[in-house]
Amino acid sequence: MPIKEFLSEEKIQKRIKEIADQINKDFEGKELIVIVVLKGAFIFAADLIRQLNMPVHVDFLEVSSYGDSLETSGVIKVKRDVSLNINGENVLVIEDIIDTGLTIKKIKELLEIKDPSALKFAAFLNKPESRRVEIDVDYVGFDIPNYFVVGYGLDYAQNYRQLPYVAIYYEEEEK
Ligand code: IMP
Ligand code: MG
Repeated sequence: MPIKEFLSEEKIQKRIKEIADQINKDFEGKELIVIVVLKGAFIFAADLIRQLNMPVHVDFLEVSSYGDSLETSGVIKVKRDVSLNINGENVLVIEDIIDTGLTIKKIKELLEIKDPSALKFAAFLNKPESRRVEIDVDYVGFDIPNYFVVGYGLDYAQNYRQLPYVAIYYEEEEK
């Protein structure tokens, strides 16, 4: 397989506990609507929300920009919009990875129109080197170099999502 382990399962689970502790502090005594960005964030979100101790409502948003390529097309399409009313609510958007920042920027614009009382972003992974637009992320699992990674929800052409760890994906088999 053209993949190589990069973040172990243990490392990921330890970091998730730390992020959850922070979110539990920041939203103490409040309720939260969690919006999971499909498909890539589903595993991170499942592990993260099970460590949250405030009342949580869960919703999903599906966007796409990649097709089966390793690079973003830059055109972000909403394939499934949220169904809960987020007006006046505390919202935490959970993303798998922030690369150019175009997706999260678009999501931010779309959700701000619905006028939540707080709108925060959690991303499992962040690639600061590939940023094309400026965006604030409130909670980041790991900053990583500009590799294409798979596993723990992240895919290449819909493959590898089920890996319990994160791996670097190589376009060609390493010789
Ligand atoms: P952005 O709009 O360039 O920030 O891209 C964000 C989206 O691209 C993420 O939600 C992922 O679905 C996808 N993506 C970016 N980098 C990777 C990667 O290394 N592996 C898998 N998917 C990625
Ligand atoms: Mg994806």
